[in-house]
Amino acid sequence: MMSQFPVKKKKKQRLRLPSPPAPLAHPVRFPKVVLCLVEKRMGATRKAFLTTLARQRGFLVEDANSDRVTHVVSEGNSGDEVVEWLLKKGSRGIDVLGGCPVLLNTSWFTESMSAGRPAEIEPRHRLQVAAHAETLEARCQVPVYACQRRTLLAHRNQTLTEVLQTMAEEAHFCGSEARSLAFSRAASVLKSLPWTVRRVQELRSLPCIGEHSRRIIQEVLEDGASAEVERVKHSERYQAMKVFTKIFGVGVKTASRWYQEGLRTLADLQAHRAKLSKEQEVGLLHYDDLNTPVERSDAEAISQVVRDAVRQCLPGASVTLAGGFRRGKQTGHDVDLLLTHPTEGQEVGLLKKVISWLDKQGFLLYHSSRRNTFQALEDPELGSNSSASTMDHFERCLSIFCLHFPGGVQIGAGAQKPGGAVTGSGVSSFWKAVRVDLVVTPFSQFPFALLGWTGSKNFERDLRRYSKHEKKMALSNHALYHLEQAFSTACEMSPAGTVVLCLQENIFDRCL
Ligand code: CTP
Ligand code: MN
Ligand code: MN
Repeated sequence: MMSQFPVKKKKKQRLRLPSPPAPLAHPVRFPKVVLCLVEKRMGATRKAFLTTLARQRGFLVEDANSDRVTHVVSEGNSGDEVVEWLLKKGSRGIDVLGGCPVLLNTSWFTESMSAGRPAEIEPRHRLQVAAHAETLEARCQVPVYACQRRTLLAHRNQTLTEVLQTMAEEAHFCGSEARSLAFSRAASVLKSLPWTVRRVQELRSLPCIGEHSRRIIQEVLEDGASAEVERVKHSERYQAMKVFTKIFGVGVKTASRWYQEGLRTLADLQAHRAKLSKEQEVGLLHYDDLNTPVERSDAEAISQVVRDAVRQCLPGASVTLAGGFRRGKQTGHDVDLLLTHPTEGQEVGLLKKVISWLDKQGFLLYHSSRRNTFQALEDPELGSNSSASTMDHFERCLSIFCLHFPGGVQIGAGAQKPGGAVTGSGVSSFWKAVRVDLVVTPFSQFPFALLGWTGSKNFERDLRRYSKHEKKMALSNHALYHLEQAFSTACEMSPAGTVVLCLQENIFDRCL
């Protein structure tokens, strides 16, 4: 039946093949059918020939790792071999039992080419798969803890993670932290997937996707949007809470109280300024700047300013950029900087001097410092009532920087402020307000602080949970110690800046 096509040639010729013509060289007649030809046993020559033929007939042909593939055509392989081959080629969204993509032998292909359209699929065309769903899903197993998952900066499930994050935010606004965490975990799992979820069945083997998240995902996949999420997004309370919590110094409690008092917008707040703390007033003043993403170049410029300040105040002290920028993000909501000195104890008093230097130079629009609370570390009574158990005890400064752009170059939304900032030299310039966190750590705790301040929040939370439940160890921004045996873990900084915590699991030698 297939004699009209050339048979497989010697292996040697495969490498010299010209690549098949671009997919759009012929008009697409069947946009809903996307073929994938299994090269195994078919050979490259024959695959190239059949690909060209299919495209000439108006069929789409894509690689195995494309999520769009609907029909997989194989010659001489069993169904299980085809599944194995697809997985090896990076195909992730396969649901064999659900029949997607459908696995076919070449008889279906030949008939389709002869008919000039996709042939009706009959049982004789189908390849039988003996392996069970569990086996297949086990191949794509996603670990439960976020710290065991590799998550890229750009992921493939943006639409779904956005709706889940909206739900997480809404739950947070309602004070339902457990519900918020559940949505946030579901989003975190989807961020780590190397494929785009297109059908709800693909969630079957994934951890941390609760019933509610699943329902919302299904709605979005099937209808393009979730009625529940749309309702939340358009609700008066969610919108007001979002506006208020974006003010520096405003948390859910305050925002909620303002909402109950009938306030809805920033204009309402302007009219009731007496309600604002000093911090919130500055936050409101710089609202637009502080809600404009901080660029990496801004973060680097600020790091340099702080480095200059530190050099003046304590030669030999270091400044390290942490937070999202350390994870490679190009933008963030603030700049997180860790200060330390290789001689333990030298860092005491550093923050005060640095702030004073920055303030004199006109770099600070606002700052609020907190002394270290190391005594709480030794006294569990004191430590246990700290507002959040994940909070650390380092000396810290929450600040708003005035970042100048020389020469009147307009950058981002900063724009020129009326009567704009005046630089040290007295020249008016363009500037923008940027949130900066400064944290001072004793040198011996620096690697733990760096690990803790690099984030993301989900990663850190799960790293602590993993330590506790899987390793019986307690990890904080200060130390890692065994909960049952009395020893803490030594920590080294490699020359490349890698933090190596002395555990066997390689999740801990994350390159920081
Ligand atoms: N962090 C912490 N203790 C705090 C505050 C923050 O350990 N008191 C950690 C957070 O868990 C997070 C990191 O420091 O992992 C940075 O926090 P943040 O700036 O809020 O988040 P980023 O991941 O940097 O996000 P963005 O880029 O938006 O700033
Ligand atoms: Mn940050
Ligand atoms: Mn921060």
